[in-house]
Formats: sequence, structure tokens, C-alpha cells
Amino acid sequence: MANADKTGAKTAPRRPRLNGPAVMLAVVVLVGVGFLAARSWFGSEPAAGYVTSAGQASIGGPFTLVDQDGKTVTDRDFQGRWLLVYFGYTYCPDVCPTSLARNAEALDLLGPRGDAVVPVLITVDPQRDTPEKMKDYVHYFHPRTVGLTGTPQQVAAVAKDYRVFYMKVEREDPSAYLMDHSSFTYLVGPDGKFVQFFRHEATPQEVADGLKKALAGAAG
Ligand code: NI
Repeated sequence: MANADKTGAKTAPRRPRLNGPAVMLAVVVLVGVGFLAARSWFGSEPAAGYVTSAGQASIGGPFTLVDQDGKTVTDRDFQGRWLLVYFGYTYCPDVCPTSLARNAEALDLLGPRGDAVVPVLITVDPQRDTPEKMKDYVHYFHPRTVGLTGTPQQVAAVAKDYRVFYMKVEREDPSAYLMDHSSFTYLVGPDGKFVQFFRHEATPQEVADGLKKALAGAAG
């Protein structure tokens, strides 16, 4: 106050103006913080490393969903088969296609042994991902991929069991919304129990190695 001379008084109240980029940045940061908070709330942030085994009781479980032919299916329909489960949605611009392509490549790397594993996409966007939409989409990645959708309640239940976080991100065009979602791939054993997950960052070879090990362990 004492040295608030004329120039000081002029420059002191200078505040960052709320311009476009600043507002955008603030929104991005807030959304990011919210996403991380929700993710830790859901407990889906895994420990370090691309592959981790976890308590079988804590992840996965029975589910009832609708396949790409419109048929109601449950976890029992898949008993005796390995499932490589990814949660995503067909309108995803980036992350889902990358993960699904990576998983398909990992199965190809396994050769005939990969036939024991069913690639599965469970949508987190049942509002737009109808069975027809799923059918159109999944075969782009691996011809054997099973696409599962369902009611919002059915999807919410299986996502909760797998600790998958997802959240609608509204855009100006209400029909063009995005979904924030966690991007882990889950390996489920022939007994329907969760075995391990793979991070989004895992390479096709790393996923193939993980599968190989799991399949060999179950055989021996
Ligand atoms: Ni996605």
C-alpha cells in the first residue's frame, strides 16, 4: 500500500483475463480431475505393470447382456471358454479401435491356440450401441468378436462388477456425445472367473505372452 505509486496502482490489479483458451484449459483440467477421482472411487486404477493378477473375488462375475444377434446371453453361455473382454463403444474415435485391434493382433500371434479365446466387446454406450450396430462394428477387428450390449441397467451392472468407469461427455450436438471410459482388457477363464487384465499400453506381443502363459498354466 505504501509503495502503491501511480504505476504500481496501474499494474497491480492486472488479472488474467478469462479468454477462450484459459476457459478451455480450466474445463479440461476439471474434467480430468473429475475423471481421475471417479476412477479411484471405482477402484479401477491398477497397480504398476501392464499385467496384474488380482483377487478373483473382486473383479468380474455373472452377467446378463444381449449379443449382436439380439439374443440374451449370460456368463454361463461362455462357460468353458476363455474371454478377452474389452469395455468400450462403437462411436469411440480413438482408444477403443486401438485396443480392439491390439487384442485381435494378440490372438493372431497365438496362432491356433488363440481359437480358445473369444474376443468380447461390451459396450458402455447401450443408448446408441444396438445389437445391429454392434454386429456391424465388431467384425472389423476380429471375425470371432462377440459384441454385447443390453439395457443401461445390465451394462451398469457388468461394468460395476469389472470396476469399469464410464461417463457420458456431452457435446453441442446431443447425438454426437463421447464416452469417457477406462480402457483395460480383462481375461476371464473357462470357469467364468477373472484371471488378469491388460493395460491399454500393452503391446500385442505382451498380451499374446500373457494369454499364452494363462492358457499354458490352465492346461498344465
Ligand atoms: Ni473408447
